[in-house]
Amino acid sequence: MTPDEFRALGYKIIDWIAEYRETVEPRRVMSHETPGAVRAKLPASPPVDPEPFERILADLESIVLPGITHWSHPSFFAYFPSNTSLSAVLGDLLASGLGVQCMSWQTSPAGTELEEAMMDWLRQMLGLPDAFRGAIQDTSSNATFVAMLCARERASGDARLGGGLQSIEAPLTVYTSDQAHSSVEKAVLLAGIGQEQFRSIETDGRYAMRVDALRARLEEDVRAGKKPCAIVATVGTTATTASDPLRPIAELAREYGAWLHVDAAMAGIAMIAPECREHWAGIDEVDSIAVDPHKWLGTGMHLSAYYVRDASYLTRVMSTQPHYLRTAADDKVTNFRDWGISLGRRFRALKLWCLLREQGTSGLVARIRRDLANAKWLEAEVRKTEGWEVVAPVPFQTVCVRHVPRHLGGMRDEDALNAHNLAWADRINDGGKAYLTSTVVAGRRIVRVSVGAEATELSHVKKLWELMQETAGS
Ligand SMILES: Cc1ncc(COP(=O)(O)O)c(C=O)c1O
Repeated sequence: MTPDEFRALGYKIIDWIAEYRETVEPRRVMSHETPGAVRAKLPASPPVDPEPFERILADLESIVLPGITHWSHPSFFAYFPSNTSLSAVLGDLLASGLGVQCMSWQTSPAGTELEEAMMDWLRQMLGLPDAFRGAIQDTSSNATFVAMLCARERASGDARLGGGLQSIEAPLTVYTSDQAHSSVEKAVLLAGIGQEQFRSIETDGRYAMRVDALRARLEEDVRAGKKPCAIVATVGTTATTASDPLRPIAELAREYGAWLHVDAAMAGIAMIAPECREHWAGIDEVDSIAVDPHKWLGTGMHLSAYYVRDASYLTRVMSTQPHYLRTAADDKVTNFRDWGISLGRRFRALKLWCLLREQGTSGLVARIRRDLANAKWLEAEVRKTEGWEVVAPVPFQTVCVRHVPRHLGGMRDEDALNAHNLAWADRINDGGKAYLTSTVVAGRRIVRVSVGAEATELSHVKKLWELMQETAGS
């Protein structure tokens, strides 16, 4: 493709994206394709001869779009917001256009220094102490895995440099709440710590980790000759957005010499609004934190911000220095290849830079406050409506509900209630007008309304609430 051809097609594609965003609302939110339908429309082998780009665009409309679930739809209330603001779309395009690889400072000094600056801007926005330094990881799952590897190495006295985990006597143990995201358990298993050493700590009535239960488990393990290696606390759990009490957990982490990682993947972004920072109390005492601008903030995938209090420890664990990577600048600069697992790195700071400048902190904080207020509106409506329950506190933008119709509520037939709540949520999703997801908490099927798509205004939350009442009652 020549630059001239690129220019012509590029304008077309920007127009296409703009129109898609303008016209997304009438589309079905959740894709209705059946398994294998998209694949069946694709040729089994790559084309031998070049094809005109127009044909690709036509196939995008006919093959790809029907298989898209529209995360930027204003009635997307499923999982968590995963916003890609248009300024971030442009930043991402610029990163692709520049086509740089940011593995080392020397491979593009601006790639490294913009990332350092953006991680510091975001740190300030989140109200994190000066001591923390950040790097972009692909996802929170990766960030948690990196934290687990650092924790394992610190607890094992850098066992990787000798006989590895096989050489240490006391088994390492890891603690997280029974509401933690599955990526924590995955990180523990992949770090070689083992299922038997994974502790799922009970939560209280608000779904936050019980500190007394954590203490009891730590004491029991130490008595049994085990070595506490890490505690992973969550700010904003996946199911109900509960936050674990960081300060007392940090005290225990210190007492037992365990690494404390905070998974604030989704709700951490709320901390840009200072009134939310009660959930952050104690954050100054933790070892590492993951917060995802690729969820609620609007950078699009993959941009998870991973902050550590002691960057030198992280780089000691992560760095490899083969001759072919060394540069003359190494002792004066940051080489982000030493801050995570991947060597090659995309220029992801560029889209964060575009987003933060185009929106300003005031614009971003206003949007987060809008979403918090919309969730509060829904919570109040559900609470005052007979036959409906709010089943967990609503500290952020997720409202967890249950419909308890009179004929089932009287007998409190839990199996029938679970089936009923799953069924009405599925009916809404199949209908295409909105998309929400359900889960099971404390053995009960609940439906989560996760507010926070960039396009979602109060009017859309009101429409959803009408749809929920109509559908659950029908
Ligand atoms: C609390 C929490 N942690 C981690 C994750 C995983 O995020 P990622 O897709 O960035 O790995 C999620 C996603 O829902 C989450 O809610």
